[in-house]
Amino acid sequence: MRTLKTLDRVLSKAGLGSRTEARKWIGAGRVQVNGKVIQTPDHWVDPGKDEVTLDGKAVRAAEKAYLLLYKPKGYLTTYKDPEGRPTVYALIEDLGRHVVPVGRLDLDTSGLLILTNDTLFAERIMNPEFKVPKTYLVKAAGVLGEEQMERLRNGVELEDGWTRPAVVTRLRNRENSTFLEMTITEGRNRQVRRMLEAVGSKVRKLVRTAIGPVRIGKLEIGKWRVLEREEVNALAGEDWFKRAKADDRPRAPRKPVPGGGGTRDARGPRKRQSGGGTGRGGGSKGDSRGRARFAGRPRAKK
Ligand code: URA
Repeated sequence: MRTLKTLDRVLSKAGLGSRTEARKWIGAGRVQVNGKVIQTPDHWVDPGKDEVTLDGKAVRAAEKAYLLLYKPKGYLTTYKDPEGRPTVYALIEDLGRHVVPVGRLDLDTSGLLILTNDTLFAERIMNPEFKVPKTYLVKAAGVLGEEQMERLRNGVELEDGWTRPAVVTRLRNRENSTFLEMTITEGRNRQVRRMLEAVGSKVRKLVRTAIGPVRIGKLEIGKWRVLEREEVNALAGEDWFKRAKADDRPRAPRKPVPGGGGTRDARGPRKRQSGGGTGRGGGSKGDSRGRARFAGRPRAKK
């Protein structure tokens, strides 16, 4: 089966840059297909047959990359910030490939962030249907009572609907704060912060310690490592890593979903709408307790 891809996608999948950048290069006439300049980003390409070049150099599909970064507080998960604030890309400069974060962490949240150039993998982890658990260490304002704890566990009403049941464990109380471990299976925008606000508290510090079975472990803040094959498989399904390396899993072009705002990969599940959540995963119980640190600015950069 022949797998067609749009020209901008071929360039971004080769790890040369984002799709937005690719569209600019195409528009500028720097890209040729079979020796002919093409200035339409949506031009269909058969990567197995067509010769694509950027500035005269052949473009080849990049190997799949799966990273785990310990994001420090004070870094954005976007590519560029109009205000010039640091982004996680400054921490992975040495990678030499374009990867994107799987979901996002707030500026003030630290902890585990997965980055990849495997869009199918990212979609699988983020799709709320798969309920990938994500575990956080939370320092909450005030000493929470049992009634507040139960509300967090059972689900609270936010402006975008009720949250799913969560696993919430009190680690310790301090004079005027509570340390909790929370595992949720959605990934809505600022979800943990909003949940705490809904029960009359406030997040003072937030660290993500695990996604599914993958834990931050002993990784130093500001540093990254490659995910193990077993970790990729545990997150996305047996043999995912092998198939990803064999590349390129056949994938039909995106089709509009009738009556819906999103898009659907012809083989995959429905794509997340804004405020969506996570995906399927292993059964982390967040046993990183005591190992993950509440993180400040980075001490070290890879
Ligand atoms: N929940 C939040 O409130 N913020 C994050 O960064 C992640 C989860």
